[in-house]
Amino acid sequence: MSYEIATIPGDGIGPEVVEATLPLFEEVAESHGVEVEFTEYDWGSDRYLDEGAMMPDDALDRLEKSDAILLGAVGHPEVPDHVTLHGLLLPIRKEFNQQVCERPSILFEGVESPLAGYEGGDVDFVVFRENTEGEYSDVGGREHVGFDHEIAIQTSVFTRQGTEAILRAAFEAAQEREGHLTSITKSNAQAYSMVFWDELVEEVREDYPDVEVESLLVDAASMDFIRRPEEFDVVVASNLFGDILTDIGAIVTGSMGLAPSGNVNRSGEYPSMFEPVHGSAPDITGEGVANPIATVLSGAMLFENVGEEGVSEDLWEVVREVLADDSAPTPPDLGGSAGTEEMVDALSERL
Ligand code: NAD
Ligand code: IPM
Ligand code: MN
Repeated sequence: MSYEIATIPGDGIGPEVVEATLPLFEEVAESHGVEVEFTEYDWGSDRYLDEGAMMPDDALDRLEKSDAILLGAVGHPEVPDHVTLHGLLLPIRKEFNQQVCERPSILFEGVESPLAGYEGGDVDFVVFRENTEGEYSDVGGREHVGFDHEIAIQTSVFTRQGTEAILRAAFEAAQEREGHLTSITKSNAQAYSMVFWDELVEEVREDYPDVEVESLLVDAASMDFIRRPEEFDVVVASNLFGDILTDIGAIVTGSMGLAPSGNVNRSGEYPSMFEPVHGSAPDITGEGVANPIATVLSGAMLFENVGEEGVSEDLWEVVREVLADDSAPTPPDLGGSAGTEEMVDALSERL
């Protein structure tokens, strides 16, 4: 088989981790007789600073032709974040109806958790984050700007279709995993959206009688991600809550540099997009030290999504092996000193 994969390296460490990992993807794909053609789009903040737009007008038409998209990160110290994100990442997720964001948190063998008493293998859960609506709906406005009576309105929109889609995706995943689902809400304070969410959980769970459902308020869940991360299996949350919880999930399992994600269009009508959970990390940009593993695992999720499970499994396996091996290089975020390229070389040597 042959796949066309669009890459958007983006800003900051995005290009560092994407450029370093493409040869590894090619190598693993080739070993399975799979051909990949990468089409790179140099969109992002530099383009914005030169031309006034993060992406060209026909960006989505061009991306739509690909089988999947690999994104590095966007975010630039000289451009406001709402401009970079609303000019690239968020419209791709929304227009391509990537309603399901899947973010695994795994504490790998050989990786130290900042939590005392945890070791490799102890934590393994996946967060299903609603990805196109909720608190990220572009509904709102500002009035009386600059006056004492100024107001800003940011409205959350929860549709039955969108909420059901993320819940069903999470229930299905729970059926395939340990059969346990944790639904995150804030229904004590948000009596419209989150009560609606809770009601839909009750409705949808009828179709998945074998899944045990636990409901947690997001504040308590944030605590429990730290207090008892080993007890989670599948977690389902709204856009904003899922965003916050997955940074916690990343750090309790070692580092932002290890956390992958997939923005999945379940109907197959549009390509899905895979990206590390982390951002453009301006604090380490240009140093060549960004951990590429989050991108490698995002690539593993990409290959699984297009149907190349063998390629995907090999990528997961080399990551597991390198992290477990005491004598293998370790990147700075995990306490070592190996740079981005050295880490990719170490993965490649394992193949
Ligand atoms: P960040 O994820 O970029 O960085 C948080 C911390 O994690 C930093 O200390 C960084 O050095 C570290 N880190 C992140 N990735 C790492 C890696 N691969 N290896 C080693 N260390 C790593 O979050 P931030 O600082 O809040 O955001 C920076 C910019 O990125 C902002 O402009 C933000 O809006 C943007 N952002 C973009 C995305 C995306 O494009 N998907 C995601 C998150 C943040
Ligand atoms: C993420 C990021 C984005 C999000 C930002 C950069 C808009 O934090 O992918 O986790 O909130 O979705
Ligand atoms: Mn985030």
